[in-house]
Formats: sequence, structure tokens, C-alpha cells
Amino acid sequence: MPRKILVTSALPYANGSIHLGHLVEYIQTDIWVRFQKMQGHEVHYVCADDTHGTPIMLRAEKEGITPEQLIDRVWHEHKADFDGFHVEFDHYGSTNGAETREYAQAIYRKLKAAGLIEVRSIEQFYDPVKNMFLPDRFIKGECPKCHAKDQYGDNCEACGTTYAPTELINPYSAVSGAQPERRNSDHYFFKLSADTCQKFLREWTRSGTLQPEATNKMQEWLGGEGGNKLSDWDISRDAPYFGFEIPDAPGKYFYVWLDAPVGYMGSFQQLCNAKGIEFDAYWKQGSDAELYHFIGKDILYFHALFWPAMLQHAGFRTPTKLFAHGFLTVNGEKMSKSRGTFITADSYLKQGLNPEYLRYYYAAKLNGTMEDIDLNLEDFVAKVNSDLIGKYINIASRCAGFISKRFDGKLASTHEDKLISKQLQMDSGFYRLDAFQVDRIADAYEQRDFSKALREIMAFADKANQFVDQHKPWMMAKETGREEELHQVCTLALNTFRWLTILLKPALPELARNVENFLNVPQFTWEDVHTYLPAGHRINEYKHLMTRVDQKQIDAMIEANKQTLVPPPSPVRHAEAQQHVPSGGTTSHSTKPASGQVAGYPLKGEGATVGAIAPIISIDEFSKIDLRVAKIVNAEHVEGAEKLLKLTLDIGEEKPRTVFAGIKSVYDPEKLKGRMTVMVANLAPRKMKFGLSEGMVLAASGAVPGLFILSPDDGAQPGMRIK
Ligand code: MSP
Ligand code: ZN
Repeated sequence: MPRKILVTSALPYANGSIHLGHLVEYIQTDIWVRFQKMQGHEVHYVCADDTHGTPIMLRAEKEGITPEQLIDRVWHEHKADFDGFHVEFDHYGSTNGAETREYAQAIYRKLKAAGLIEVRSIEQFYDPVKNMFLPDRFIKGECPKCHAKDQYGDNCEACGTTYAPTELINPYSAVSGAQPERRNSDHYFFKLSADTCQKFLREWTRSGTLQPEATNKMQEWLGGEGGNKLSDWDISRDAPYFGFEIPDAPGKYFYVWLDAPVGYMGSFQQLCNAKGIEFDAYWKQGSDAELYHFIGKDILYFHALFWPAMLQHAGFRTPTKLFAHGFLTVNGEKMSKSRGTFITADSYLKQGLNPEYLRYYYAAKLNGTMEDIDLNLEDFVAKVNSDLIGKYINIASRCAGFISKRFDGKLASTHEDKLISKQLQMDSGFYRLDAFQVDRIADAYEQRDFSKALREIMAFADKANQFVDQHKPWMMAKETGREEELHQVCTLALNTFRWLTILLKPALPELARNVENFLNVPQFTWEDVHTYLPAGHRINEYKHLMTRVDQKQIDAMIEANKQTLVPPPSPVRHAEAQQHVPSGGTTSHSTKPASGQVAGYPLKGEGATVGAIAPIISIDEFSKIDLRVAKIVNAEHVEGAEKLLKLTLDIGEEKPRTVFAGIKSVYDPEKLKGRMTVMVANLAPRKMKFGLSEGMVLAASGAVPGLFILSPDDGAQPGMRIK
């Protein structure tokens, strides 16, 4: 009996690019969905952009466009990234649509009618310049514990303490810089503390809907039996806010996390409208359809508590299961912009890297638990090349040519009685997939233990290679009288290749499509794994199906994702850099080495403060300094200068300027060429041993090692004034 299955992935925020971390989830879901579709089930896979909230509103404002324009642009970017990785949604929508609005409002009305909505006045920080209430992450100030400056409103990055934004010392608005005021305003709460919610959630989270690790986490959050630990959930935000207005509450908007999961329904409704699917069959309480949400472990709270409680009390069905996955690390560490491991989907594709390498690698690592998964780039190259090319593709590439060249593209019979030798008869049994093995693989896919599925599949590929190695078709091809044997061996090998492709198809859909073309067959179904291609079947000429990954492409991708050109400083480097470069500014004009710090860095360890702020100056004094955006058109070593680089800077003048900068120990001149930086354009020129220096470039330095020249944001032109 075909199952009716609705599958979702979390809705990515519409204010950032898709990166390789996100792709863990979308690739995981896509593989599972493709597997279920191959089984002949009725599966719908929907997703959407999550478009509401303050960050999106502010980002649009900063870019000088409307939120609608921003989310429209990002939607296309996201869609292109997903297409690029063969993530095939049945529908990809947006939460900013009529369908999501209507369901969000309908759910709210039901909750209200059930007495589960309460209005309460709360006090919050308000930005009197921007005229808006500030979410925690837009308030900054000094940490009440360690006194680190510029910490966010909810926790300190320096010492790790968490606190309320109201505890910050000298808080300021990260939006306008203004000192925030405390103001009261009415907020709408979903009463999760109500008995009906607590009772329902305590049961629901233990009813097999969650992975064991997740169930434990939830019990912690819910407190023990009879304990009442959940507080009410604040679901409203005050204008200005980009989102949906709350019915009968002018100026109040749904908090983004209220309408985000409703976006699953909204997106599915759009699919229903287009395809004539019955919405209620999937969402009505008592529906026999299955509903699965794939999510990251960071958003479990919303999906395992708020969302089922909303659905339950608004008369909808609740999810069959939540499938949470862990976080991606790259080379064992959190993705990092400075290390270049915060890799965007787009930059991966732009390097010409095959998306199916990554699909395969993730599949080989995913096991259906909430453990984090590591993308080790060396291992990535090795695994893709050895498994995919060395084991799997190798079978076809060693046998296909003979069929085309020697047998007019036609396959031999694989019928046992027709096989030419006892050995081949035995082998055709031995090298066949047995039904148990196929079931084990199907089961592993079903359980989302893709790593197990792929291990089994690769074990079979090893066996298939042994078969080819033993029979050596390339030898047979040279000997006369072995035509028929050659024909049969290559045919048997191509059949094993076909089975492998069917089993790998959920993970490698594009490759499988190319194999379907090559073997000249219709789209594979899972059942095809139990059959052979018939004798006389004509295949197409073999063309390269996949090439090896080149380490150089990986290196280039990392380089392209690096957001600063500073190499990770080695201890030796620090000492050198520090000896030659005075702290605070990078200038050809400094003649004296900076006193006090010459011998090395202050021994206070990383994160030490950078010293007192200089005395106050007036705006007039500041505006005497003419700072300009400069393009480094050339950078070169200076003969005889151990610390200087000679920079040629274009600031839009007729003749470019020459500046000598003491950054040789930290920057490779080749990498500076073409980049933009900032220079002081009205500093008195200075005659140096190596020539005239006509300005100064700026760089940051502090207690921790390193020296960092500045870059303007994309779009800045040479000569623009910085003020
Ligand atoms: N908009 C919310 C989800 C709303 S669902 C109703 C959101 N968006 S997100 O863009 O931050 O993340 C989307 C999904 O990608 C989440 O499931 C998140 O866990 C996942 N990942 C984001 N970064 C990730 C890694 N580095 N590693 C693995 N998954 C990650 O959350
Ligand atoms: Zn602190």
C-alpha cells in the first residue's frame, strides 16, 4: 500500500545565503524523499523562505530596498542554490503569502477561543531614535560580569555569561547607537503554562515522535511529572515589524516564530492549489497521512513544544515524527569566516565542484542521530575519489567500451544456462545482490542511517570490482576465441553497475539519470534492483560519468570564502611582525619602532583589552583627516627593506599614489593586488630611503597577534571619501 507522506525541511531565513551547514539538512531530507518516491509512495516535499522579523526588516532598510524586494531577491538565490545541489522540492514557497497568513490567523483565533491567549504589559528596551522596541540581539553594552565592551543583549561572548538585556552596563541600540529607554507595551502570550498544554506536551514528547536524545532534552525542559516548567510564549511584536498583523490587535504583529512553521502549511496549500491535492487529507486531526519535519537540533524547542501545542489546540494533526540532525563542523571546527570554512553553496558550485560529491559525502556521514557531522576536507577528497570514482564508476569505465566497440552496444544473455563457463555460472550467483542485502539497505535509508546504507552499497561495489579483476576483460579482449566470454563478463559487470546505481540513486540523482541514459532505460525504480537487463538490449556509448575531485578546487574554494587575507599567525610571525610594525597604524611615516611592545605581544593572552580610548576630539578635528577608499593596483617587495611593501594606490586621481607600508611580514603582495582598502590621503608626503611615500594605509592591531588592513564594503569606488 503506498503511504501518503508530507515532508518538510526547516525554512531558511531570507536574510542570508545558503551555506554548507544548511545543506546537511536539505540534502538529508532530499535523499530520504527520493528514496520514498522510488518506493512508489505518494510523497510531497515542501519548504519555503522564512521571511519575517526584525533582522530582515533592518537589512532591507540598510540596503535601501523594501523587505518585499529583499525577500524576493533572496528567494531566487536560495532556489538557485537548492537546484544546484539537486534538492528537489515539490514546492518552494515563502512565508510572506496569503496562505500562510490565513492559517496563522486561523490558528491564533482558535487558540484565543480556547482561552489560551493572554495579553500582558511588559517592559522592554525602546530605541527613541528609531522609534522601535529592540530585540535582545540589537542591544549591546558592557558585560555586567567581566566588563567586556560591546556585548550582545543576551550573552557575553568574552566570558560566556547569560543575562537579561536590562542587566547590561551602558546599553546602547545596535541599530542607531542611541541609549535605549525602558517602555511598557502590551504583548500577546500563548499560554503554554496552561494544564492542557503541559499535559499534552508531556505525552506527545514521549510518544515516539522524537529521537531518544531529543525526548530526554524535552523532559528536561518540561520538568518532571506534575512540575510546571514551561512559561507562556510571547507571540507578539510591536510595529514597526515585517510580518503579519494579529487579528483585532492594531499595531501588533505575530512574532516570526509563530508564522514560520505555519509556512509549512502555507507552502503545502500552494502545492495543493497547483496540483489538486486535498489539504485536509494531510492536516486534519485524525489524518492517516504521515507528516515529518527535518530540522536542526537548534530549533527543536520550537518544533517539539510550541508547534505541536499550537496544532493540537487549533484542531490540526500533529507531526508523526521530528527528525533532528546535528551541526556541521569543517575540519573539526565551527565554520569560520576568517578560516574560509564558512562556505556558501554558491561558492562551492562556482568552483565547478560537482554537487554530488557533497551529497555523497554527507550521506556517508549521516546516521539519523543528532550528532554533529564533520566535513573534513582532506577526507572529502579521499573518500569521493576512492569510493565514487575508484570503486563505483570504475566498474562501468572498465567494461562499457567493449560492449560498444565489439558487440555493437548490445548486451549478452545473463541466463545461467547460457553462461559459457562453470566459473561464470557460479559467479553470476555469487555477485548478485541478495534480497536480504537490498532490504537491509532499504531499511537503513528508511531509518535515515544513510552511512549504513552506503557502507553496504560500497561493500557490494568492492565485490563487483573483484569480479572484474578476476575475469580481466581487458585480457580477454586481446585473445582470440574469447569473444563470448568477454561479452558475458562485461554484461554481468554492467548489470552490477546498474544495481549499484539504483541503490545510490537517492543520494546521486543526477548521476543516476546519466546512467539511465547511458544504459538506455527508463527511470529506475527500487524494484529494478531485482532484475537483469535483457539479452540484446542496446546501450549507448559510455561517456565520462564523473571526474575525480581535485584538491586545488577545494583550496580555491576556501580561499574564495576567506573574509580577510591575513594568514593564521604563527608564533615566529608574531614576533617578526611586532618588531617591525608599530601598533595602531601601518605607516611608512613611523620611524620609531613602537616602544614598550617591541619585544613581542603583551603576555596577557588572547582577548586582552586594547587599552584606553584616546582623548575626545571634536567633529571638526576629525574631519581634517581625509580618508579615501583606495584600490591597491600594485603591491611589491622593496629591495633592501625587510618590513616594507611598496603599494600603488588608486584614489581616483590622475596619477596613482605610492605608499610604503610596514606590512611585509603579514601580507603577501600578490594577494593584495586588486583589493580595496582605506588610506589617509592628506598626510604630508614623506621622503624615505626607498622613495617618496604619499600617504598612509590603515590597519587594526591589538593585544592578540595579527595586523589587519581595512576593506570597505562591496560597491565602494576608489576615491570615495570616508566620513
Ligand atoms: N528560519 C528558521 C527555521 C524556521 S522552520 C519553521 C531557521 N533558519 S536557518 O536558516 O537559520 O536554518 C535553517 C536550517 O538549517 C535549520 O534547521 C538549521 O538547524 C540548519 N542549519 C543552519 N546551520 C547549520 C549548520 N552549521 N549545520 C547543520 N545545520 C544547520 O532556523
Ligand atoms: Zn563577560
